[in-house]
Amino acid sequence: MASFQTLPGFREFYPDAFAQRAHIFRLWRQAAHAHGFAEYDAPVLEPLDLYRAKSGDEIEAQLFNFVDKGGREVALRPEMTPTVCRLVGEKANALKRPIKWFSIAEFYRYERMQKGRGRCFTQFNADIFAEPGIEAETELISLLVQCMTGFGLSAEDFTVRLSDRNLWFFFLEAIGMDDARARVILGAVDRYEKIGDDAFKDYVSQFGPLDPAVKSQVLAFQSIRSLQALEQMLAPLGGEKLMARVEEWRRLLANLEAMGIGEFVSVDLGVVRGLAYYTGFVFEAFDRKGELRALAGGGRYDNLVGKLGYAELPAVGFAIGDMTFALLLEQRGLTPPLVQAPDVYVVIGGPKERLSALGDIRALRAAGYRVDFSLRDLAFGKQFKAAAESGARLALIYGSDELAKGVVKIRNLTERSEREVAKAGLLEDVRSYFGG
Ligand code: HAM
Repeated sequence: MASFQTLPGFREFYPDAFAQRAHIFRLWRQAAHAHGFAEYDAPVLEPLDLYRAKSGDEIEAQLFNFVDKGGREVALRPEMTPTVCRLVGEKANALKRPIKWFSIAEFYRYERMQKGRGRCFTQFNADIFAEPGIEAETELISLLVQCMTGFGLSAEDFTVRLSDRNLWFFFLEAIGMDDARARVILGAVDRYEKIGDDAFKDYVSQFGPLDPAVKSQVLAFQSIRSLQALEQMLAPLGGEKLMARVEEWRRLLANLEAMGIGEFVSVDLGVVRGLAYYTGFVFEAFDRKGELRALAGGGRYDNLVGKLGYAELPAVGFAIGDMTFALLLEQRGLTPPLVQAPDVYVVIGGPKERLSALGDIRALRAAGYRVDFSLRDLAFGKQFKAAAESGARLALIYGSDELAKGVVKIRNLTERSEREVAKAGLLEDVRSYFGG
């Protein structure tokens, strides 16, 4: 075996795997277009500073970064959000609002390897800029749901857990946490589901022992799973700001119900998101069985465009990763079928007949049909075998008899019937067969 192996965490796509992933991208793209999003792309390599202190410590520690030959500190992009903020920030005044954009692109994070996590993966990102209201969240959650249901996944397969960093900060302030403490507590809540009490170690090492009363309030808040429970928890804290926020919650949930996608969304204050820039509603999609890591994540980040040095612009968005998503489809038996078969397989008698066939092959391909044929002169038997194996519906036969008569023989490979058509009318005939 040769000694050049794929780097750990990087993937190769042989044609079958590629076709399956391409099908996923096709349906995601369709869902984005159906929601009125426009596609963009941007560089894979970015200035390191774009991520420093913007994405959060976890992503910063996972960067693939180096110094380029011009002495610049650069990094392979670990996520799209800072980049898309730059694109929008640069041209904010020239862009038609609201700005609804999506992309399908590859990202790089030096992660510990586990099921559904790699060091190079693809995300579908969708973001809305310049819309401060919950209509933007509604639109994005609708798109996220369609990206899943388009494949046949139902509310029994996945759920979108909806939470709120804004409320979390209100709550932590109300129970006496300053901003620095609140941020470390949110980090702990983010990890609590995975590692339990160890999640609070960072807090203890920075600020000393955590008051048990505070801890139990934090744990009670993170276990909220309904709007009613949320209202009950917040009622004693009172305050106009809090009540206005609860009203936003009601409106968002009413919107989602009205869209008919309420069943896909669950109130869940246990989600806080690891990335540093979120400011409001946040959400993550998970498989219902809880066997896989997050399928998608996102939320509102109203300060990031401003933090990059541009005029402030409200923003909300999410990303779905392709790896966990493909695993979920596989588990549910919903992996897309491979449609790689040609429409037509051309069987050629010899060198003279090949010259007669080549022009027709080109004309059929130009008309949009998938056409395949043997690149070498082979015995008829071998070519018919290849035609049958290819999955093509029609075989076109160019033998010496046909050439002499100016006809092409068409064999219907599913019905096993045969007939001859005038070579001049071949395209029309094939078209009528495929109903084009
Ligand atoms: P994120 O939660 O870091 O959010 O990633 C979103 C999704 O990308 C995850 O739910 C997961 O499916 C996939 N993903 C992340 N890391 C890996 C990995 N190492 N291997 C495989 N899949 C992975 C963001 O990236 C935000 N920028 C999303 C966003 C867009 N927020 C606003 N707009």
